Amino acid sequence: MPSISSIIYDADSYDIAVSVSKDLGIKENNMVEMIRTAWADGEFKMRFSKAVESGDTILIMRLYPNVNDNIVKLMFALKKLNDMGKRTKVVIPYLAYARQDKEFLQGEVASVYVLGDMLAHYGVEELIVMDVHNQAIGDKLGVKLRNVSAIGSLAGELKASASAENTLVISPDEGSIERSKAFAEAIGAKYTFLEKHRDRITGDITTDNKEIDAGGKEAVIFDDMIATGGTIINAAKIAKANGASKVIAVCTHALLLNSAAEKLKSAGIDDIIATNSIRNGFAKVDISHLIADALRPGS
Ligand code: R5P
Repeated sequence: MPSISSIIYDADSYDIAVSVSKDLGIKENNMVEMIRTAWADGEFKMRFSKAVESGDTILIMRLYPNVNDNIVKLMFALKKLNDMGKRTKVVIPYLAYARQDKEFLQGEVASVYVLGDMLAHYGVEELIVMDVHNQAIGDKLGVKLRNVSAIGSLAGELKASASAENTLVISPDEGSIERSKAFAEAIGAKYTFLEKHRDRITGDITTDNKEIDAGGKEAVIFDDMIATGGTIINAAKIAKANGASKVIAVCTHALLLNSAAEKLKSAGIDDIIATNSIRNGFAKVDISHLIADALRPGS
């Protein structure tokens, strides 16, 4: 992608878009908002706030919250950009539907590939995401996937307050072992993992009990995301039962659904550290510069 002329953004992602624009030297005048209006029956209309200059475009959009509405808005924008002959890279920091990457129950749809199909259909050049749930989806997504990691930045944030010798990083399930290991290495601490099971019908999760070396230590539970908080709470209980003096939850995407933040606090979790892929009071790490680096021509 030789020259980026415009950044297309959704109002809810203006903070990231403006920071990326500054890093890449794109003038504010070349930032174009996707404006959505709705008819009384709920149907949407989408228009760009101004003319999109000639050249390549980057579209930046948080899909969460209002994921399904935002997907419609995204597709409208991509259709328009494709019709204009634009080469577009799409940045979706938290890739919604990424967890539904297979047919877990017979007859289910692997939803993330539907999203991939739609992006491919509109000729998207590359999809840039942060710490995607399962990087293996890239093989079948139909659109080039670039996964940017916030692990180093999250580690930098934690390092400011924790001592490595007194910290144990815990992966709350087998799926997060590799990222927890990388995080532990980045802060110079030891790590362990737990085994979690999810009931695919009720969604309930259980975590196997395990003896871990957390006595008197700060336990850092590291995951790609916190949704309802159940995974982290189970891990925190095990850390505390093994003598952890403090428990901190660190993740890239803190969705914190259904009062999860309060539930984590009641479960004795002392702090939550997350990125601003999702906007809330726990977004302590800004991902904008990581995204800008990934978009720099030649990167
Ligand atoms: C799935 O395995 C993910 O890595 C997270 O562990 C999960 O999405 C967290 O969900 P919840 O907070 O609802 O337990």
